[in-house]
Amino acid sequence: MPDRHPVLIRGGRVIDVTGERVADVLIDGGLVQAVEDGMSTPAGATVLDAAGCIVAPGLVDLHTHLRQPGREEAETVETGARAAALGGFTAVVAMPNTEPALDSAAAVREVLELGVSAVCDVRVAGAITRGRLGRELAPLGEMADLGVRLFTDDGDGVQDARLMRRALEYASALGVTLAQHCEDKVLAAGGHMHEGEWSSRLGVPGQPAEAEELMVARDIALARLTGGRVHFLHLSTAGSVAAVRAAKAEGLAVTAEAAPHHFTLTDAAVEGYDTLYKVNPPLRTAADVVAVKAGLADGTIDAIATDHAPHAPEDKEVPFDQARPGMLGLETALALALTELDLPVADVLALLSWNPARIAGLESSHGGPVAEGRPANLCVIDPAATWVVDPDALASRARNTPYAGRKLTGRARHTVLRGEPVVVDGVAKR
Ligand code: DOR
Repeated sequence: MPDRHPVLIRGGRVIDVTGERVADVLIDGGLVQAVEDGMSTPAGATVLDAAGCIVAPGLVDLHTHLRQPGREEAETVETGARAAALGGFTAVVAMPNTEPALDSAAAVREVLELGVSAVCDVRVAGAITRGRLGRELAPLGEMADLGVRLFTDDGDGVQDARLMRRALEYASALGVTLAQHCEDKVLAAGGHMHEGEWSSRLGVPGQPAEAEELMVARDIALARLTGGRVHFLHLSTAGSVAAVRAAKAEGLAVTAEAAPHHFTLTDAAVEGYDTLYKVNPPLRTAADVVAVKAGLADGTIDAIATDHAPHAPEDKEVPFDQARPGMLGLETALALALTELDLPVADVLALLSWNPARIAGLESSHGGPVAEGRPANLCVIDPAATWVVDPDALASRARNTPYAGRKLTGRARHTVLRGEPVVVDGVAKR
């Protein structure tokens, strides 16, 4: 339900897809009512101070693992949504590699219902294949009828090219997008990190960059063949970025995302066999990091997506080869992007808000201009706030961040969901 309580965001610099200006933002009834400089405070309004801050459409994460159902010891819809709101996100797309997988309307509905009371708008990506097993198509149509706009077997890529072709043909007819986790399972088999100098030194079996790049190339070919829309999840190699750049130049309907860890960390971090650095796709080389950053800068990569992958301690405090891959992302993504990317703030916001909102089909409620009549899903960012990542201070139920102790600049200060301040001065209100 939209909040009927008026809220005034005072003294900030509004940045959205239309540009930037200094203005106060008045919210009521869940909608932005006015965007003007120097507004007086309406009676009974909650005032959110935005002096020195940026007021922007809320961030949108295309790639969040909320772990419900099945792994509630690592995260729930409620705790993951709270982490998201604290990170400045007003919408997340929950990945379907839950237990059981989100491969039917009933399963999708269950997560959507859990999301109703969450402090972030929880959308769902449906599985492409039943059980994410890669053998037969899931009922895409019945999930699309519930508003699902992205489908993926994330955690695994669809290995069978013929099945992927069929899925793309169905997806085209339904007007939805297939998001691919690009990994050739046979080529990657047995690999626990990137295959290269560091995997040789450490004696850890690796997976080559080509395991990702082969599937990127295949799916570009299938996008060309079918006209279907493909979104490439967590691109991590220079070759993948180059392939997507060429596909876009050709005019194909492809989009791509990169995760913060793939532009801030390299495979050298695995040196101490610390499982916090185990992730899939794996951390790559310094040259790959440069290529991912270039892809983010030139528009080849449309979005930053967290791949927030919470894991319980018992799944990480084990030998490297036995640990589950994945790391937390929601509470650090914005700060990592602001700190580590040499991009104007508006470009960072495009990557974290309006571009992913468009890819997820959420542009009517998220990522749009901060303007009268628009849904009030907003975040207020303090670009100068410096902070040190403390795993114990995170709202996520899990603790598996590789950034403990890292000093970052920039942080979400307030988050407003459907007109309700759900985070105020860095504190979640519920
Ligand atoms: O590191 C990863 N963790 N990569 C994936 O593709 C899946 C994810 C998870 O679900 O933990």
